[in-house]
Amino acid sequence: MDQIKKELKQPYTEYTLDMFLRSAGKDHAEIHQFNRWREEVIKAGKYTFEIPHLYAQKSEIEVQRITGEKYNLINFASYNYLGYSYHPEVLSSAKEALDTYGLGATGSPLLNGTFNLHKIFERKLAEYFGLEGYGVSLFSSGYGANIGVISAYIHKGEHVVLDRSSHASLFDGALLSQGKITLFKHNDIEHLEKVLKRISHENSRVLICTEGVYSADGDYGKVKEIVQVAKRYDAKVLVDEAHSLLLAGSNGKGVAEEQGVLEDVDLIIGTFSKSFAGVGGCLYAKEEIINYINYYARSRVFSCAIDPAVTGGLIKALELAGGSDGKIKRVKIKKNAKYFRSKLFGKVDIGTSETWIIPVIYGHERITIPLSDFLHKEGVDISLMMFPAVPKNKSRLRVFVTSEHSKEHMDKGADAILKAAKKFGFLLDD
Ligand SMILES: Cc1ncc(COP(=O)(O)O)c(C=O)c1O
Repeated sequence: MDQIKKELKQPYTEYTLDMFLRSAGKDHAEIHQFNRWREEVIKAGKYTFEIPHLYAQKSEIEVQRITGEKYNLINFASYNYLGYSYHPEVLSSAKEALDTYGLGATGSPLLNGTFNLHKIFERKLAEYFGLEGYGVSLFSSGYGANIGVISAYIHKGEHVVLDRSSHASLFDGALLSQGKITLFKHNDIEHLEKVLKRISHENSRVLICTEGVYSADGDYGKVKEIVQVAKRYDAKVLVDEAHSLLLAGSNGKGVAEEQGVLEDVDLIIGTFSKSFAGVGGCLYAKEEIINYINYYARSRVFSCAIDPAVTGGLIKALELAGGSDGKIKRVKIKKNAKYFRSKLFGKVDIGTSETWIIPVIYGHERITIPLSDFLHKEGVDISLMMFPAVPKNKSRLRVFVTSEHSKEHMDKGADAILKAAKKFGFLLDD
């Protein structure tokens, strides 16, 4: 503890993300201050942000810090849940698409950026979800899908109701829509109902947003209960399945499938940067909604289509996940996540995690820099999340367990976390 107290006294560790957000005079002093701080952290050899990876996002990776030092790490920081970013069949499908269609789509999907490959992917995704009369709209990121869909679906003066733990892209979509934003307590259906009672009245459109698996907490959204409440108040429901598509549900269609309400959800958002291990996002909804969104979602209309090679890889990832490969890997990732949670449960605060996302809440933002550096030196890579992405004093490590981790990887990962918890004072009952 003495060592950490000493480190905390040094200015470079006194970092919280909001420190440099406020305006500090006409000459943009906050930008100079931020850069001074950044240089100090780099000079001290503790800068762990945006570290270049030297190879693919496998369970073991090599990274190189800005100072030139290389680290071999066990990777718990990537969303590559099913290992498809380096799967040989995914890669050869991507290479084939690259050779046929070239590097970029070089156009908006609405104008000239759509290739037959995009149409094939849309059709295969729609078939995978399987509801009659439904379709898919592709976006170049999951972030773009959320901001584009919400801001096109909800107009000025209408209502967006968000879980307090929602991802930034859901908040940003709601802000862009210029609708009225109301928050309900995380996964608290009684509170949601109170909110709906207050705001819903005839002719007022209401959209409730939830996540299938919460990206900051690793628990399941209460999609079934939300759908039931929404029906009573004539509200629509959006489920962001970013961290659950290909993973949750008996066929990997997400938490809406798992909770038996796929047909009752109005808008399903998927991202291709997680279990698909590429990049891009989508909306799955009734065809007439898809047609409208394709014309009115600004992040789609005014942005380039997903590049062909990635699209080729995504088609193969979907095919694998929809077959026996997906079935085996879904069992594996759940087994791995259960094992990892059991290694940490009762020793550190893992909040309400029930899935492959395991937060380890360490509290104050200020220990983020030395903690991140320490974990690297212990041989593991784990992302950190702090305010404003999570509430103040609820900063956390976020462990992403994949189907590809071995027991040995997880044992080493858990040991490093517990060692860090002892050193930085967030071990429970210490
Ligand atoms: C819940 C959620 N929605 C959307 C996104 C954005 O996805 P993308 O990285 O594909 O833009 C993320 C990314 O982390 C997320 O966690």
